[in-house]
Amino acid sequence: MNLKLLTGAIVSSAFLLPGSASGQTADFNIVPQPLQVDVTNDAPFILNGKTSIVVASKSNDMKRNATLLASYIEQTTGVRPVVGKQAKNAATIVLTIDKSIDNAEGYKLDIDAKSVRIAGATAAGVFYGIQTLRKSLPVVSGKASQVTVPCAHIVDAPRFSYRGTHLDVSRHFVSTDEIRQFIDILALHNINRFHWHLTDDQGWRIEIKKYPLLTKIGSKRTQTVIGHNTGKYDGKPYGGFYTQKEIRDIVKYAADRYITIVPEIDLPGHMQAALAAYPELGCTGGPYKVWEMWGVSDNVLCAGNDKTMKFVDDVLKEVVALFPSKYIHVGGDECPKERWKECERCQAKIAELGLKDIEGHSKEEQLQTWFMDEVAKQIRARGRKMIGWDEILEGTPSKDVTVIGWTSPKATVRAAKAGHPTVIAPIQHFYFSNVGLNKITGIPSIERVYNLEPYQDGLTPAEQQNVIGAEGCIWTEWVKDAKKMEWELLPRLAALCEVQWTQKEQRNLDSFLQRMLHIHDIYRLKNLNYKEDIEAAVKK
Ligand code: ACM
Ligand code: ZN
Repeated sequence: MNLKLLTGAIVSSAFLLPGSASGQTADFNIVPQPLQVDVTNDAPFILNGKTSIVVASKSNDMKRNATLLASYIEQTTGVRPVVGKQAKNAATIVLTIDKSIDNAEGYKLDIDAKSVRIAGATAAGVFYGIQTLRKSLPVVSGKASQVTVPCAHIVDAPRFSYRGTHLDVSRHFVSTDEIRQFIDILALHNINRFHWHLTDDQGWRIEIKKYPLLTKIGSKRTQTVIGHNTGKYDGKPYGGFYTQKEIRDIVKYAADRYITIVPEIDLPGHMQAALAAYPELGCTGGPYKVWEMWGVSDNVLCAGNDKTMKFVDDVLKEVVALFPSKYIHVGGDECPKERWKECERCQAKIAELGLKDIEGHSKEEQLQTWFMDEVAKQIRARGRKMIGWDEILEGTPSKDVTVIGWTSPKATVRAAKAGHPTVIAPIQHFYFSNVGLNKITGIPSIERVYNLEPYQDGLTPAEQQNVIGAEGCIWTEWVKDAKKMEWELLPRLAALCEVQWTQKEQRNLDSFLQRMLHIHDIYRLKNLNYKEDIEAAVKK
């Protein structure tokens, strides 16, 4: 944090009073905390109906950035700047690319009486500068005649390159409009990866042209268990899936906000919905039902059946065509071995591969390692990278495989020490919808997220470099609609985004809690559902 004392009174943003967004003056008490914020008492920028946004570039990305900024400003203040034309004698917002900025997502924001200049290393960097400006503006009810933006110089760049949020749409389906709203929420928090958990035992949600029954049969369950596997069912059919056209539109919507969608096809476990559609892919041949209860089904893909590998390859072919993401997530978590132990084909495959029980690893566990290696080859052959949950470390996957450590922070340590790129997403801290952990309310629930350090103790500086980011997760067994999803996410997503974006030395819980109140103004503006008990505890 820069505390230079030059001609004007230059102060760190940490010293500004919180909550002044309710007036008609911008302040920079935002989430995530930028790297460097210098505010001076020089003449401010006045934003009003004559303000224009000018793009110093012909790129479509930059033009779209300008349009998004205009709409953010209008939503927040009621003032709609003109895009594209330099207004005479009026202050201007200028968006430019500055290749001298060394982080691809970094930006500089310079504000004086004549202009607001947002320069990014790339259009993505400019977008993050736009988010900072947008979050600095006061949320005005009605239409402001003008907003004062203090003279300031901000330099910013993210700490981590992988800033993710995961959403399970299998247990409960989330409509395309709600997915767009979710993407908007991620953008507000500078998050750049949407990990989309598209398939599981309880529903297959992505259209695959070569296997139409996956959605015709696999996307529908006859009923859903009530509560925590009580044995009672609601008797109501439930379903939903995304067509490939809808997925393409959503991929574009996300990319326009610099968010890459990482699709997940969870395998070889969590596949009962697919087996309901194609029972020949299971060890017993079925019949199977799309699962009506929660937990982990014993019915998994048959690893000894050549048709299974062909199925996975065909599905991944369509997935890769839909999603430009470098990473393709293939699960690898929670695969019970009960069926494989009994299955002649799986046992024959084990014999063919010469697998034996060894200390710490049964032959069936090694069969899963072989299976995941084959899937990794399919992904690599298509020029992409495999990413999976930390159970893939039960084998020895090749070092180009990225690991999401969910079982505990130690899983990320293990992955980093083994030389894998890894993302920290421990259930104990970043699973926002986990019922057990949700019992923690108020400020402790924020602390639990905010204080998790991705560079866990015991990692050498070289191993720390393997930790590429952090991810929050929403699982939807108990999250039946988008409003509940928002309530689970907010404001803990704000705490997470500061872990993802802000430098370790700058993280400060007390400062965060005050700045969190500022982003709550935007939650209210967008009619988002958030945990008001946390706000009440901070204001006490
Ligand atoms: C997981 O929670 N099974 C990744
Ligand atoms: Zn089998």
